[in-house]
Amino acid sequence: MSWLTEALKSSLGRKLVMSFTGLFLILFLVGHMLGNTLLFFDDGGQAFNEYARFMTSTPIIQALSLVTYASIIIHAVYSIVITRINRRARPIQYALNKASASSPWYSRNMGILGTIVLIFLVVHFRSFWYEMRFGQLPVVNYDGSGEFKDLYSIVAESFKQWWYVLLYVVAMIGLAFHLSHGFKSAFQTLGLTHKKYTPLIEGVGLWFSIVVPTIFALIPVVMFIKSLG
Ligand code: HEM
Repeated sequence: MSWLTEALKSSLGRKLVMSFTGLFLILFLVGHMLGNTLLFFDDGGQAFNEYARFMTSTPIIQALSLVTYASIIIHAVYSIVITRINRRARPIQYALNKASASSPWYSRNMGILGTIVLIFLVVHFRSFWYEMRFGQLPVVNYDGSGEFKDLYSIVAESFKQWWYVLLYVVAMIGLAFHLSHGFKSAFQTLGLTHKKYTPLIEGVGLWFSIVVPTIFALIPVVMFIKSLG
């Protein structure tokens, strides 16, 4: 196994770990976003609560959840390790490059953008993930189809608060920029660069980085507006 440890410690190995975990998290985001669009339904939360129970009680999804948690932790830890190694290797050039770099500002500030997403995730996990698993949620019964934890009511309550909605919107702006660099850079690291396909990957990456965070941000905004009247 020492070859594996060596590979994971190499510069390319570290970048590959960032790419694979990042791409897995991108797939997670698509699924999570689609599931969360059930919050737009005016059904008192039934579809969303049924979905939440399915997601937290199906073994294969529970296994995927563990991969998601591991990916978040590994992605964050490796980003810190890579940044520290890069800074140690070229402290002076780093400062110069930073000032005069030709890459966009968000590419040079992936750490800051990632930290915004990470802070968001801590609040997010505490509000919803923790409540679903360990909280005392109210229970609802839909036409005799058994009891469901009313996670919807917790989400709806949270999104009645303007500052909570603002936190989501700001975090989704951070996520959008983080993704717009991360998406194409993951494909570059995997060596998937091609005269014909690279513009396509960049185009898809750009659209993905705009559409997914926008839908995520719209959920709290729409729920907040609905709660007003
Ligand atoms: C409006 C936007 C969002 C809403 C309403 C929402 C809602 C939820 C809810 C209700 C849960 C708990 C469900 C459960 O216990 O499995 C959850 C879990 C989670 N959310 Fe979100 N979410 C949103 C955006 C995001 C974003 C943007 C990210 C990532 C950047 C994210 C990452 C996660 C993760 C990693 C989990 C744990 C999933 C698991 O346990 O498998 N969420 N979210």
